[in-house]
Amino acid sequence: MADEKAVLSIRGKNIEFPVHEGTEGDVAIDISKLYPDHRLMTFDPSLASTAICKSTVTYIDGEKGILRYRGIPIEQFVTDKPSFIEVAYLLLTGALPTLDEREYFRRQLTENELLPEPMRLYFNNVPTTAPPMALLSAAVNNLACFHPEFLELDNDDDFMEISARLISKIRTIAAYIYRRTHCLPFMYPNPNLRYAANFLHMMFSLPYSHYEVAPEIEDALNLVLILHADHEQNCSAATVRVVASSRANLFASCAAGICALWGSLHGGANVEVMRMLAQIHEGGLSPEECIRMAKDKTNPFRLYGFGHRIYKNYDPRAKILHAACERVFAILKNQNDPLLNIARKLEELALSDSYFVERKLYPNVDFYSGLLLRAMGIPTNMFTVMFAMGRLPGWIAQWKEQHDSGGRIIRPRQVYEGNTLSDYVPMGQR
Ligand code: SDX
Repeated sequence: MADEKAVLSIRGKNIEFPVHEGTEGDVAIDISKLYPDHRLMTFDPSLASTAICKSTVTYIDGEKGILRYRGIPIEQFVTDKPSFIEVAYLLLTGALPTLDEREYFRRQLTENELLPEPMRLYFNNVPTTAPPMALLSAAVNNLACFHPEFLELDNDDDFMEISARLISKIRTIAAYIYRRTHCLPFMYPNPNLRYAANFLHMMFSLPYSHYEVAPEIEDALNLVLILHADHEQNCSAATVRVVASSRANLFASCAAGICALWGSLHGGANVEVMRMLAQIHEGGLSPEECIRMAKDKTNPFRLYGFGHRIYKNYDPRAKILHAACERVFAILKNQNDPLLNIARKLEELALSDSYFVERKLYPNVDFYSGLLLRAMGIPTNMFTVMFAMGRLPGWIAQWKEQHDSGGRIIRPRQVYEGNTLSDYVPMGQR
């Protein structure tokens, strides 16, 4: 395969292109010389058939419903229950940490869990009605003001230091966003708690009463964060790469990723799923009407939490999250939670409906994640913030690959369909 060629015949010319093959058999035609040498372009507006990079971080097989972080199937993170920071370390470095490496990384996170005090005070001056994702992207970008020494990263030690700081601080920022939007006093992090438990402490403890984190809730949040940690070139990760390709710093690139994740077709879908389930529960909509609306091309409504650009099979994360929902709701003695029952009914209706079956539309990561977060007491408007908290290590790993590749700035072309040559018309003649 090394010297395999692809040939394009167009307008009497045969043009040859190199072919790349990935370690799992992905085949890509290298058209990077098409415009420079032939003044021709390809057209792929959603980049569905376009690889924007080579990567070693995450592998997805959409037909088989496979997801692996650095080659490790995500199902193994369910059975072996590593901590989220261990999986973050794996994504950042490409290797699972030794005990010493993990404890050193854990110390870096603990030593950096506080926000700079001026940033904490910043939260006092934002509206309590502020959209959490607006506050999150602003705060992550704002960290650049307090860590100017990390605007340029030219060695791995600095990279791991700032990665630890960001992963630790996004947790504090997320908790402060919740506290501010709920008019609650801020709770400082507790250095004796693990990552997920410390977050839940900052979310739900009060000055006069410590929130005791139930082990099954801590495990469930740890799992939710792991399952969201990376997903190859999704919209937000590709955004991070585009921004990184201009040589922008890590803070700016991750803040851009947060903004891309906010959209309802991407990370914002977990909020829309809960809205959809609540609307059905409050009687505004029946599951059957939901399915009908989702199939109606004249209706912009979509069955949120269903469908995926890559998975044409069950999203492996959705399978794990559904099982986790059943487990946690059983522990909470709430197996007949009305919204969980509606989700089960919607899945049953969709998976037996030819519209969804023919289009290979299955539940994706967002379909059950919200139910699990809600069971932890996390409000709907914080769901996409939770997605971002989980995804941050993946964005940072993708940023590192782009940064280290020394690649050219990502600057796509277009097919121009506007006016041909025209003259300026002075105001008096219009
Ligand atoms: C995430 O890319 C990633 O990896 C993302 C993510 C990650 O971890 O980063 O996995 C996280 O974003 C998951 C997806 C969350 N979004 C939603 O749940 C929103 C609802 N789903 C869709 O909008 C849609 O399925 C997308 C956005 C997820 C995928 O969009 P595509 O690949 O552009 O698919 P499409 O819109 O071209 O759909 C193909 C067909 C169309 O019908 P036809 O034109 O063939 O008649 O399927 C239909 C679509 O109308 N369709 C749906 C649908 N999803 C697709 N119809 C109704 N409800 C849906 N949810």
